Parts: sequence; structure tokens; C-alpha cells
Amino acid sequence: MKRKLIAGNWKMNGSRASSTELIQALRAELRAGFPNCDLLVCPPACLLETVRDAIGDSPIALGGQDCHSAVSGAHTGDVSAAMLKDAGCSHVIVGHSERRSDHGEDDASVRAKAQAALGAGLAPIVCLGETAEQRDAKATLKVIEDQLVGSLPDLGVGEGLVLAYEPVWAIGTGRTPSQEDVAEVHGFIRSWLGQELGDWRAETIQVLYGGSMKPDNAATLLSVENVDGGLIGGASLKAEDFWAIAQSCP
Ligand code: PGA
Repeated sequence: MKRKLIAGNWKMNGSRASSTELIQALRAELRAGFPNCDLLVCPPACLLETVRDAIGDSPIALGGQDCHSAVSGAHTGDVSAAMLKDAGCSHVIVGHSERRSDHGEDDASVRAKAQAALGAGLAPIVCLGETAEQRDAKATLKVIEDQLVGSLPDLGVGEGLVLAYEPVWAIGTGRTPSQEDVAEVHGFIRSWLGQELGDWRAETIQVLYGGSMKPDNAATLLSVENVDGGLIGGASLKAEDFWAIAQSCP
């Protein structure tokens, strides 16, 4: 079984004080024993430096929540993948459903961002997921396939890619899909990757589940075949909950 990744998406939350406190609490837990997974936190861009300093030499990785597709230039308010790399990031989330809806990002722009991330030496975490209407219309796998075709970057040898299946209706709602539904989508993604990249390469790509993962459902969701970790929003803002999820990794 490949090592799982437990990633916290802090979204637009936190201050220098609260984020330092959160990382200190995680570091205290890490000193007592390492969980069976890798840990990643993705704070807002303005907190990256504070969080990086708080992480220090502890084995918590740092990621951005979005990047621009250009290397630099006249793009007010944006950050480039190279800037995130320079700030100490190893990963960047791209195509989160909140970016797709709040900022009108389509598959082509997500793909360009993912490509820029790879170009800067970051592993993009490309988010995919259907809306409630699409699930009700039994279009989930078609939506996921279209997003895979449209959003995934060309992957060079040795480049890291992470996917996150996040049903839009499960994000921040407390609702989660059944284990069977998660297994179906993750199995579909894995076999699609196998066809595109070959089975060996497909196996190296971590496919995370995201959407209302909490301490009380994490063990169930993380035990589903082809689920290689979690992308956690709300529950990543409390060290205790994030740690409990990390400890749920089989
Ligand atoms: P949630 O968010 O855990 O609060 O549902 C997950 C996400 O949006 O990545």
C-alpha cells in the first residue's frame, strides 16, 4: 500500500498567531509518535512564511492553495508557482471547486496552473468532483472523466502529481458519499490513469478524498481501496481533529 497523504486546506482562515499555535500543537503530537502518513498544510499565501517558520525542521510539508499559470508579470493579486516554491512549498492545490465557482476557473485554466506548478518543481493537487445535480443525474463518472481529460497536465518523468476527488456537495456540508460511491469514483480514476500513463505510473499517483472528512469518518473513508489520503478543510483548522484524522490512516 502506498503511503497516505493527509493534507489540510485552510482556505481563507487563520492569523499569524492561530497558525503558529496550530503548527506547534501538531509538532507536539509528532514528538510523541509519527502517524502512518505524510502531513501537508496549505495556509493562505500571506501566512506561508509564518507557517514555514513554525514548521521548522519538523516533517510537515507546506503547500499553496492556488497559483497563476504564468511565471511572473502583471497579474494583480496572484501568486506564481515559482513564488510558492521559493516560499518553501512542495505542493499547490489547483482547481478546487471554490476556485472553479468563485473565480470561474475552467478545466483549461486548471490544466495551465497544474502545468505551471510542475514547471516550478511543485506537485499540483488537482481537484475534481461532481455537483449534487450531476450526481442525481447519474453523470458523476462522465463529469470526472471530462475533468481528468481537461485538467490534468502532461506529466514528465519523475514529476509528482496528486489528485483529489471532492464531491462539491460534500464540501463543508457534513455529508459524505458512501464507501461504495467513493470506491467507484476512485477505482474509475485509477483505471483511467492506468490507461493514460500505464499501470505502474498510475499507481504512483496519490488520489485523495476530500469533502467533510472528520475524525469520526476518516478511518472508514481512508480504508476504501484507491483512497491514498485526504484533503481536509474544516477539520484541518483544529490540530486535535487534523491529528485524529492522520492517526486514522491504516
Ligand atoms: P471540508 O473541505 O473538509 O471542510 O469539507 C474540504 C475541501 O474543500 O478541500
